Order: sequence, then C-alpha cells, then structure tokens
Amino acid sequence: MPAETRRPLISGNWKMNQNHYEAIQVVQKLTYLVGKDDFETVDVSLHPPFTDIRSVQTLIEADDLRFALGAQNCHSEDKGAFTGEVSPVFLQKLNVSYVIVGHSERRELFGETDAMVRDKVAAVLRNKMTPIVCVGETLEEREAGTTMDKVTKQVRAALEGCSPAQAGSLVVAYEPIWAIGTGRTATASDAQEVCAAIRSTVASLASAEAAGAVRIQYGGSVKAGTIKELMAQPDVDGALVGGASLDPEEFARIIQYRLHEPSEA
Ligand code: 13P
Repeated sequence: MPAETRRPLISGNWKMNQNHYEAIQVVQKLTYLVGKDDFETVDVSLHPPFTDIRSVQTLIEADDLRFALGAQNCHSEDKGAFTGEVSPVFLQKLNVSYVIVGHSERRELFGETDAMVRDKVAAVLRNKMTPIVCVGETLEEREAGTTMDKVTKQVRAALEGCSPAQAGSLVVAYEPIWAIGTGRTATASDAQEVCAAIRSTVASLASAEAAGAVRIQYGGSVKAGTIKELMAQPDVDGALVGGASLDPEEFARIIQYRLHEPSEA
C-alpha cells in the first residue's frame, strides 16, 4: 500500500493532565478550531485520562464530533482481581477506538515489559479496538548506536501472536524517549529512517501487505512548527502529540498541518 493511501492519524495524549471539566473545555475549543473539512484528510484521536473518558465520549456523541476517542493504557485481562486496573472491555463499552500500549512512561516508570505490551496488544485487538504501540530508544541507546536493535526488538515482541491482518491494522508510534517533553525532536530524516525500519520489520514478521497498511506515527516534542516536515516523510503517517495537544490552538494547527507553512506555524 503506497504512503498516500494510508490515512494520517494525529493523536493527542494528554497524559495525567486535565480533569474531566477541563477535558470538556479543551474538546469544545478544538471543535471550534477544527472544521469538518479537516477530517476529510486526517483522523484525530484524543486520549484523555481514564476519569475523563465518559465525559468526552458523551460530548463527542451528543455533538456528533469526528474525534475518535482514545485511552492511554489498559490491562491485558478482560476482568479479574486486578485492583486499580482498567479492563479493555470497559473501554470498548465507552466506544474507545484507540488504546496507547507500552508508552515509554509506562515502560520506564511502571515496569511494563515487552511481554506485557504483547499481551495488551492482544487484549486491545480482542476487544475490537486499535492499539497504538509505542516504541523508542533512550539517549544512551541512541548514542551507543543501538536504536534499530531496540526498536526492532520492541516491534517484534508487540507483533508476537498477531496475524498478518492484525499486524496491518496496528498503529506503531516511534517515540524516541530523549525527545519526549524535552523540546528536542528527532530530525525528520532520523524519524523517517526509524519509521522505515519499523515498516520493514512488519514486512518480515507479517507480510508486505501488512507493512503497507500499518500506520506509523512519530512522537516527541511535536509542534505546529515541526509537523509538516515530519508528515512529508514517506514512512511517517501521523503523530502522537503530548504537551502540544493540551493547547487547543496549537493542536488544531498540528491537525491542519497541510494548511500551514512551518515558518508561519
Ligand atoms: P511530548 O509531545 O510532550 O514530547 O510527548 C510525546 C508523547 O509522549 C506522546 O505520547
């Protein structure tokens, strides 16, 4: 599948920011800034904290908004004695479409392993949602020249047990850890190089068709001023945006990257 047939996906990961009142305000402001036409060419998912999801769902459905609802994490089991965890079944009941799996903050701060990520990918797929699987290297790994090894290993683990069709339905987010929340962005050509390697890993693990279909996002300090060049790369199909997605005006400009020149963004 050539790059131009993959629908771009811009995702806003709010992390642990915005209570449910604030979340409603952000979505309302975004609704004024992002028009129906914008959704003709791009998919947009919003990933509020769990406690906001019901409020955002209600707003999206009441006003027939085109934002897709997302979550930031879930457990790999559908139910059971897992105090404090959130079942993928519950997310599916809230009409969540995309679930971020294996974000580097989950991996680094909460001990999520490649095996846990693999099980969560399976759980999200089992519940008819789309996983956004995060992969990426630390600064030490980049400096040691092991970026490709790390990222390939993470992709390999995440795809274990996926059929080729399932592999093709995934979203993979390449988020170099050193670029998250730091204001440092990978250059567009570095992002392209790693995203291309992810796509060829999917080709070798699943199929050429799956590799052509899988959508690969870049994440790490994405701003309105950097999105256009990133999106011009043949293997970058979208962005996973943290800080800049909390500001409706900035996030709207990211969604509308086609309309703005980097210099005016
Ligand atoms: P920032 O855009 O704040 O760097 O966060 C990126 C990220 O982790 C999105 O998941």
